[in-house]
Amino acid sequence: MPATVVVGSQWGDEGKGRVVDLLAADADLVVRYQGGNNAGHTVWVGDQKFAVHLIPIGILREKLSLLGAGMVIDLDVLLEEEAELSSRGVQVAGNIRISENAHLILPYHKLIEAAEEDRRGKDAIGTTRRGIGPAYEDKAARRGIRMGDLRDLDTLAAKLDTVVKYKNLLLKNVYKSRPVDPDRIYNDLRVLWDHFGPAVCDTSLIVQEALEAGRNILFEGAHGTMLDIDWGTYPYVTSSNPLSGEVCAGAGVGPKAIDRVVGAAKAYTTRVGAGPFPTELEESVAERMREPGGEFGSTTGRARRIGWFDAMVVRKSVRLNGIDSLAMTHLDVLGEFDEIPVCVGYRRGGEEVSDFPNQLEVLAQCEPVYETMPGWKSDISQVKRFADLPENARAYVKRIGELVGASVSDVLVGRQRDQSIFV
Ligand code: GDP
Ligand code: IMO
Ligand code: MG
Repeated sequence: MPATVVVGSQWGDEGKGRVVDLLAADADLVVRYQGGNNAGHTVWVGDQKFAVHLIPIGILREKLSLLGAGMVIDLDVLLEEEAELSSRGVQVAGNIRISENAHLILPYHKLIEAAEEDRRGKDAIGTTRRGIGPAYEDKAARRGIRMGDLRDLDTLAAKLDTVVKYKNLLLKNVYKSRPVDPDRIYNDLRVLWDHFGPAVCDTSLIVQEALEAGRNILFEGAHGTMLDIDWGTYPYVTSSNPLSGEVCAGAGVGPKAIDRVVGAAKAYTTRVGAGPFPTELEESVAERMREPGGEFGSTTGRARRIGWFDAMVVRKSVRLNGIDSLAMTHLDVLGEFDEIPVCVGYRRGGEEVSDFPNQLEVLAQCEPVYETMPGWKSDISQVKRFADLPENARAYVKRIGELVGASVSDVLVGRQRDQSIFV
């Protein structure tokens, strides 16, 4: 391993949870470095489905799991998640640590986000409405409340008082909605601190110690490259940096500590929420993949938009993240198609486009160029060795590797742990 990042190479929901779960078998430490409970990482263990939003999915293997400084944390959701996992036999207490530098998502973040999405109407981003954007806004505006702020109750009360005064001005005067009560927020946080306080620390020191001891560390990315606030399809993005580079700031390690970057990529493409999607399919085709691929948002339950594999997207991800190899998921879902189009490039005004455009206005003028691969027309979900996949399935995997400039190290053919092929 020893320090490996798993990063989403498309618009999220690539199956990062499955890939992390696979690699976590050999990890000593699993670390989330950004995002919040807008993420939904799903793993099936037998007939039990686990969808985890804040705690790294490594918790399912009872590995020490860190919530890093780059995250935004809704402690009510964390409490629910802990209770849910514990009630199903997963040992959470003692296995999680929370960065004292991580920012909190508070009730006013969720209210303001919902009001702002409603105000935008048809121009809404289609966010998860979990308060993610407003919490990162406060972090950048230097009025955020951090985990470590809960240690000193007197200063917490003063900080909350200042920020809530401002938020209530917004809620009342701009959004014409009900104000929030700072005392209630304060009292709730006190109770939550009693519960989580012992797990709060400088998590970067745990990472450092593990590195020095030569332990295996897995950094669990959330969302995907195309949702990155700097490199994604802005403004239809999330408010953090899912890119592998964010491991450094979000977990608190230097860039030389990272040994390997694995990109999770679906064998096709999906997206939830608004924004451009060049290879998007019409519903009559998309619906053939939705059930078998489980293409409903793990966080909001929304039906995911579905399209063919877009090599322009993943090629850019390989470059931006320094992806060493791809874990290709959902190959089984393509088993019923006679032919499978793959987007190999874009054309704009008759000219070939060399790289996925950063500007939506340019992207809107691009036409995907497809190459058609023959399908394999069979159920591959029980195949265990790459050599045993049908020839056309192997050709599909190899062609995608060539197109994006990274080898495929793993192929996933189902949602269960044993439906994984090491290439
Ligand atoms: P993440 O956010 O990247 O972790 O992905 P999600 O968990 O949100 O979405 C992936 C969905 O696909 C989940 O329902 C998984 O159970 C399912 N899944 C993951 N890998 C595979 C695969 O190889 N084949 C199939 N059919 N489903 C998969
Ligand atoms: P995982 O980790 C898919 C999308 C939302 C919306 C946009 C902004 O499960 O892959 P936000 O609430 O983050 O401000 O919403 O980003 N989005 C995701 N889509 N998977 C995710 O996470 C996502 N996290 C955010 O749908 O379009
Ligand atoms: Mg997801």
